[in-house]
Amino acid sequence: MSEDERPSDIGDGSAENGSDAAGDPEPATDGGVETDDVDEVVLDPWGAASVSDYRKLFEEFGIGEFDDVLADVPNPHYLMRRGVIFGQRDYRPVMDALREGEEAAVLSGFMPTGDPHIGHKLVFDEIIWHQEQGADAYGLIADLEAHAARGLSWDEIDEHARDYLLSLLALGFDPEEGDLYRQSTNRDVQDLAFELGVEANFSELGAIYGFDGETDVSHMQSVVTQMADILYPQLDEPKPTVIPVGPDQDPHVRLARDLASRMRYFGVTKAYASFETDEEELALLRHAYENRDAYADDPDQPRCSEAAQWLVAEQLTASAMGAAAFHDRDDLDSLVDSVETTLENAGMEPLRPRTRIVNRRGDDAAFEALIEAIDGEKRVFEGHVDAFDLDRETAEELARQVEVDQGGYGFLAPSSIYHRFMTGLTGGKMSSSIPASHISLLDDPEDGYDKVKAATTGGRETAELQRELGGEADECPVYELYAYLLAGDDDEFATRVYEECVGGERLCGDCKEQAAQLMREFLADHQEKRDEVEELLDAADIELESPRRG
Ligand code: TRP
Ligand code: SF4
Repeated sequence: MSEDERPSDIGDGSAENGSDAAGDPEPATDGGVETDDVDEVVLDPWGAASVSDYRKLFEEFGIGEFDDVLADVPNPHYLMRRGVIFGQRDYRPVMDALREGEEAAVLSGFMPTGDPHIGHKLVFDEIIWHQEQGADAYGLIADLEAHAARGLSWDEIDEHARDYLLSLLALGFDPEEGDLYRQSTNRDVQDLAFELGVEANFSELGAIYGFDGETDVSHMQSVVTQMADILYPQLDEPKPTVIPVGPDQDPHVRLARDLASRMRYFGVTKAYASFETDEEELALLRHAYENRDAYADDPDQPRCSEAAQWLVAEQLTASAMGAAAFHDRDDLDSLVDSVETTLENAGMEPLRPRTRIVNRRGDDAAFEALIEAIDGEKRVFEGHVDAFDLDRETAEELARQVEVDQGGYGFLAPSSIYHRFMTGLTGGKMSSSIPASHISLLDDPEDGYDKVKAATTGGRETAELQRELGGEADECPVYELYAYLLAGDDDEFATRVYEECVGGERLCGDCKEQAAQLMREFLADHQEKRDEVEELLDAADIELESPRRG
């Protein structure tokens, strides 16, 4: 994860950082006002992605709130408890597996473009926490991406890669239990990337990432490589896998989820009759089936033709259907028309609920094996088989098992969790091109101390006002340092800082002094640990020097 060059506003945005603090002599170091159109949230993995409003990520991109699952996370990390990890996609299977002691995996990747900084630490911590909870853990160096998308030389990449890895180990990653690799030397990842590339074409990548005729081929290759990274933990066997990233990486996660499903041999749906339907037609058939008492001569055997007549006579409304997909009557009318025709053609065939397994990619042998594996009543059709005694969940499992036995991958859609970007210490975005805005994990502890002392705060103009109104902890990069890092696992401490601040008991000068000291200690301690894990890294199964040229 690289947070370089990315605006990183929190909550309502850091557009206005309060002037520097009460009791604090330095002038304000305001990072400038963000001029981005606040109505538009763009997620660009390589650009200056701006998250002006985290709520939009839920509404527009379908990211789930982390709060929805928090209560069921076993032993949640402080970043989860404090809302720093704010979003997730499909995280439930991962936390269920962790809780039940079943197989799960965590993987994230780092572009070695500069020094690892305190923003990367969030991701290191997320990987390590999942490893401690029992997940198979993977940390990868995205060297191909750094070379192709950022133009770094292999020498630069090697140097930075080592620094990322040392910090990851120093923070507690266990390289004996977990896996470290670099994209360029992982042949399995390359092979998987190649297969995944068969399922994606240029127009699609263009639409997702804004690629055009000028885009380097290797940059595109780095995308399929990342897709392979994300699915790599499932190469041996399918398992719930979480990818902790910043929200700028969400386009990658969505594509990986799509590709995972496109690689599947079989798809499981419900059906009510022998013919094939799409989702909307299916909703209509379900509705007709549920109302069979209203029209069927024999409600145990409602006929397709009876349902057809009833559907036409019925003044259906979208809300009666309970289907949000139907916005306007026109849509619904033409849908009713087509379903009516299909039902009429099916004539006397009874409507009867069943679980359908559609063959998408399986060859004849795989489809045969699937049919064989289904217990109870079943009907075989050209491209699908209908099972009458199998619930959907069992069918899913069965289909995956057959796929794996037949040489397929059986991928589960990967899950993800998203953390907030940190605000720069100078206000605005945290950017590696503005050294004062961020703290590198390699910064001299004294420099770390100084940067915190010079940071922008959410304090008031004067100490007097601060005592009266309280500070604005929610707008304060220094408070963020406490919450994201300095308070560690100590919630009580983080809460105390917050409450003392907003209650006007805490003044910025002292607050920054305390934070600066903690930062100095953290950096000194971290760097000592980095030295200690040198040997561990040299013993780890990862190539630290690339033989590549170019
Ligand atoms: N693209 C990521 C970044 O910009 C790095 C990366 C490569 C990655 N492969 C990954 C992240 C797999 C998560 C999962 O930092
Ligand atoms: Fe000031 Fe500390 Fe409050 Fe920030 S958290 S506004 S630095 S008192």
